[in-house]
Amino acid sequence: MFWWLVIGGTIVWIIVIGLAVYATRVRRKKHERRQAAILIIGGGAVIPTIILAGYLTYGLAMLPDLLEPAPQGSVRIAISGEQWWWRVHYFTDDGREVELANEIRMPVGEPVQFYLESPDVIHSFWIPSIGGKMDMIPGRVNRLKLEPTKTGVYRGACAEYCGTSHALMSFYAVVMEPDAFEQWLEHQAEPAAEPADPLAVRGEDVFMENGCGSCHAIRGTTADGVVGPDLTHVGSRLSIGAAVLPNEQDDFFRWVAHTDEVKPGVHMPAFEMLPDDELTALSAYLEGLQ
Ligand code: CUA
Repeated sequence: MFWWLVIGGTIVWIIVIGLAVYATRVRRKKHERRQAAILIIGGGAVIPTIILAGYLTYGLAMLPDLLEPAPQGSVRIAISGEQWWWRVHYFTDDGREVELANEIRMPVGEPVQFYLESPDVIHSFWIPSIGGKMDMIPGRVNRLKLEPTKTGVYRGACAEYCGTSHALMSFYAVVMEPDAFEQWLEHQAEPAAEPADPLAVRGEDVFMENGCGSCHAIRGTTADGVVGPDLTHVGSRLSIGAAVLPNEQDDFFRWVAHTDEVKPGVHMPAFEMLPDDELTALSAYLEGLQ
């Protein structure tokens, strides 16, 4: 379709420029009224209608294939656009459901079925290098099928203005070899490992004592909040805060202490009242959730 549009657009452009040169350089005289009317109606309405109708028919003929759901056994991912992050659910063939956030991974060369929705405002899910965008509309589930052809890390974004931090609502999409993908998903389905490092152990206490678990879930602990992103394996992600900060211990510190500066309007309160040593311990714990 891209090439047909390029070819068609080039031909139309050459004809229009040719006519303009002809009218200004070669035949510089007034048209008769009737001739001018034919030119305007023909060139301005009839010909564009025919050309665009042709392209529309061609484009519509492609739709059934794009709307066809991915075959049975394909990876299925439900994504919910939140203000301003992504809630991600993987469904596996054996009926398990794994909740993640702000990062998706896909096997290369296989169709992946997405189910897109939103609990609040309209967002739009878009990984430009892999496929077209699709709106996430409250009250309905939109389906999108993507089939990545190359492994790599791709940037995704929210493509519909959704409030203060719309521009800070991004994510990474990682396309992996199928085996590596399976391993990754297996690992993500597991509960969080107990922290070993004393600093991280202290960090877990800070997390629990300050009520973080009423908004965030960490599977395998008592933290089971559903308001914010699931943090079970937050340390294994490429970024934090929906791709606004890299995933380093310092970045966790900055995020927790100055949440609203990093992401204006965010629902999570900043915990700048916590002493630095507690924030450091908390950051070590979160970073260690691999
Ligand atoms: Cu969500 Cu823009």
